[in-house]
Amino acid sequence: PKPAPTAEDIRARKGGEPIVSLTAYTTPMAQLMDAHCDFVLVGDSVGMVLHGLPSTLGVTMEMMILHGRAVARGLSRAMMVIDMPFGTYEESPAQAFRNAARLMAKTGAGAVKLEGGQHMADTIAFLVARGIPVMGHVGLTPQSINTLGGYRVQGRDDDGARVLADASAVAEAGAFAVVLEKVPQGLADRITAEVPIPTIGIGASAGCDGQVLVVDDMLGFFQAFKPKFVKRYADLGAQAEAAIATYAAEVRARTFPAAEHVFADTVPAKGAKQ
Ligand code: KIV
Ligand code: NA
Repeated sequence: PKPAPTAEDIRARKGGEPIVSLTAYTTPMAQLMDAHCDFVLVGDSVGMVLHGLPSTLGVTMEMMILHGRAVARGLSRAMMVIDMPFGTYEESPAQAFRNAARLMAKTGAGAVKLEGGQHMADTIAFLVARGIPVMGHVGLTPQSINTLGGYRVQGRDDDGARVLADASAVAEAGAFAVVLEKVPQGLADRITAEVPIPTIGIGASAGCDGQVLVVDDMLGFFQAFKPKFVKRYADLGAQAEAAIATYAAEVRARTFPAAEHVFADTVPAKGAKQ
């Protein structure tokens, strides 16, 4: 099998064939997407999607390392990118380097992602200069929910210049790609045209250089809420619940286990059905 793409391989995809990405948090899900994704993101969305947290703010380094290690075991050809959790990089470039290096060393991720535009540019440059590929994330940045005041579309009307300046700052600082989350389509297209690195859209535009979705959202497993930008490609949550309900009914009716699920008291004769 060909080696996983590097951050530089992803960067070189600017303006080319769309870059495909999903989040993953576990080995089996990573295995399912390994052949289909260019990179797999171990997102801090794990806190909300798998741990029932109300936001991403409570996600820790330990959670990211545990899930990152699980995802790494499921990948052989896709690149792995891992989110830096809230509070582990904002204070200083040195703090960011220490934690980014730990995430990469413990998980084998090929890059880290961190949220923020102009105000994180110095930190991104510091990491890149010291061997850590960085993916940026601008527009809606969920770790700033308490200062943004809600999960609103970012960059509408007069605010577009700010988001463009954020994406440009991240690119200039040396990031190899940038996530654009929940920005208007026209602005996403303009940013994609103006910044020299791939834009990865989520709630942005089909014109971005790539797309990412939270896998539990697109499979219909995460049902707490559904943002407009999520397309449900399957309804596995409903299917899972129906299967669980059928199991419960069969246990109560003693129709499970059936003959084919139980063992005979004597060893069956050779050639006989188990
Ligand atoms: O944590 C996450 O899942 C993300 C993506 C939605 C970009 O950051
Ligand atoms: Na994230």
